[in-house]
Amino acid sequence: MRINDQTATQLKELGVELRRGVSLAEQTSLGIGGTTDELLLHRYETIPEVMSLLASASIPHRFLGGGTNVLIGDGELPWVVLHLPTARPGMHIEGNTAYVDASADLGALVTFCAKHDLGGMEGLIGVPGSVGGALRMNAGAYGTQIGPHVREVELYRAASGEIETLRGAEIRFDYRHTSFAPDDMMLRVKLELPSKPYSEVLAGIRVCNEKRRSSQPLNQKSAGCIFKNPPGGSAGRMIDELGLKGHRVGDAMVSDRHANFFVNAGHANCSDMLKLMDEVRERVHAAYGVELENEVIVWQN
Ligand code: EPU
Repeated sequence: MRINDQTATQLKELGVELRRGVSLAEQTSLGIGGTTDELLLHRYETIPEVMSLLASASIPHRFLGGGTNVLIGDGELPWVVLHLPTARPGMHIEGNTAYVDASADLGALVTFCAKHDLGGMEGLIGVPGSVGGALRMNAGAYGTQIGPHVREVELYRAASGEIETLRGAEIRFDYRHTSFAPDDMMLRVKLELPSKPYSEVLAGIRVCNEKRRSSQPLNQKSAGCIFKNPPGGSAGRMIDELGLKGHRVGDAMVSDRHANFFVNAGHANCSDMLKLMDEVRERVHAAYGVELENEVIVWQN
């Protein structure tokens, strides 16, 4: 979708940088996604005005964070993407509290906190993506989830059209799901973390990195696990047991390392990946009677 010149001028006055005809394949860890205009929101305080301008100009939009857990449609996309600038995100510590911009890299946050003798998030070290994305999905690994550490989130709420601050207790954090609305935009977060000596945090980080390296296809293009684990079960184990590792549709392939990672083994597009997901979902349903739910967020045209 393309923004017209008049709207582009108004957006510029609100501190928005317009990037025309961006390939979202280059902004996602799967390397899949079509083309559209991208709006970089340099000034958080103007976001409500930007959003009302987009609404009055009838410009549909999606908010793209780190791009590590999203499968985006192919071709010219019928919406623009909004993005927070990622250069030099704010991060500072006071006592056991970390104040972080949502655009910060999650791994960078974990190591920054470690250097200030704060732990509790070691398990999240290899989870790719932004702090905002981690919040939205309640990212978790190796027994750690981000949710329990959250004390406050500053966000743009689509429902009110305002920037609001929510207390941690007002937010529901479930398994890979939160009470945020899909069009809420995370801006900043305040986390409370337990004190832990740097060397101990580092040792925990090393263990998690090693576990991840030995079981996940880290050097291939993926969006992490493609399906949620069903209650009490493991999507990866079920797909593996069905002999589906290496199964492919075009260049979309079930990883031969971890069966719940679907990788782009070349020039996969969104329809290949969706077809592969459908095939695997059907095979798992036929064999186990379990309906796998997407973990990856799908943005179709
Ligand atoms: N397994 C297999 N074959 C496979 C993959 C896994 O038999 O191809 C078996 C493993 O041997 C193990 C069990 O299945 O006994 C569970 O596997 P694993 O420990 O790799 O964990 P997972 O349940 O597949 C979850 C999260 C990961 C997270 C890891 C580590 C989900 C959907 N996945 O994977 O998160 O990194 O635990 O905590 O909850 C993600 O969210 O994108 C993600 C990758």
